Amino acid sequence: MTKHFINLDDLSTNDLQKIIDQAITLKKQHKAGEINNSLKNKTLAMLFDKSSTRTRVSFEAGMAQLGGHALFLSNKDIQLGRGEPITDSAIVISSMVDAIMMRVSFHDDINTFAQHSSVPIINALSDESHPCQLLADMMTYQEHSGSIKGKTVAWIGDGNNMCHTYMQAAKAFNFTLNIATPEGYEPDQNFINQYADYINLHTNAKTACEGVDLVVTDVWASMGQEVEQKRRKLAFKDFQVNTELMNNAKPEAAFMHCLPAHRGEEVSANVIDGKQSLVWNEAENRLHAQKALLLYLLS
Ligand code: CP
Ligand code: NVA
Repeated sequence: MTKHFINLDDLSTNDLQKIIDQAITLKKQHKAGEINNSLKNKTLAMLFDKSSTRTRVSFEAGMAQLGGHALFLSNKDIQLGRGEPITDSAIVISSMVDAIMMRVSFHDDINTFAQHSSVPIINALSDESHPCQLLADMMTYQEHSGSIKGKTVAWIGDGNNMCHTYMQAAKAFNFTLNIATPEGYEPDQNFINQYADYINLHTNAKTACEGVDLVVTDVWASMGQEVEQKRRKLAFKDFQVNTELMNNAKPEAAFMHCLPAHRGEEVSANVIDGKQSLVWNEAENRLHAQKALLLYLLS
């Protein structure tokens, strides 16, 4: 059966951990200048219906570093964007490439695509989840602080796609997730029900950060929510990760953000650019984590 990576819980904890360990090895080998042509003659199609810096560069560079090829396909340029059915596109594109990475506005489109694809589908961000980012985040935490098992993480801000995947990660890697959101911006109720044993819902950001090992946030308005920007800025004004919040966490606590970030909104400049911030390593690790994911899916 074709393996897909649409949500973090598509893979067992064991397989997720193997991918992360492999990513750490690949990173060392890459930095040592070792050549790895494991994906020679393989092609990855990258379908983008939204903007991207990290995801596009990391998948494209990753395929090149593994001896393969990546094909950038913007919705603006392909027939899918002009109304060709998802099912037809899936059959045709998957008949020509070895794996497909998709960034979509509607999560269900990935499921439909996967049902008709003959090759692995990777979710490169949907309105519901962002599993590739969590591979990099978990890898980053492990490199920096060791196992996340039994630790407590604070998610501050919007109960969005990233928050949902952190909820799945809490179960997969066995940590507690304190989620602080303004009222009305909580994560999806289905996720709350499914991951209830691993999460605590808060309405106060400072309380949620009490004694935690890692503080994570994301933009207040995700892609596609630009019209809500003004309203969200008001609603989220007490949810900025700043020194006051970080001081409530453990002294050795780390800070992460998937990026792009808005300094002065969801995070203060001194936190994201400060010594507890792991954001640059976290961004770089997208490359290594996804190379390991591609090797796993294509092996
Ligand atoms: N974090 C992340 O997915 O970044 P991009 O939107 O730049 O790909
Ligand atoms: N929540 C953000 C993440 C971007 C990587 C968005 O969906 O735009």
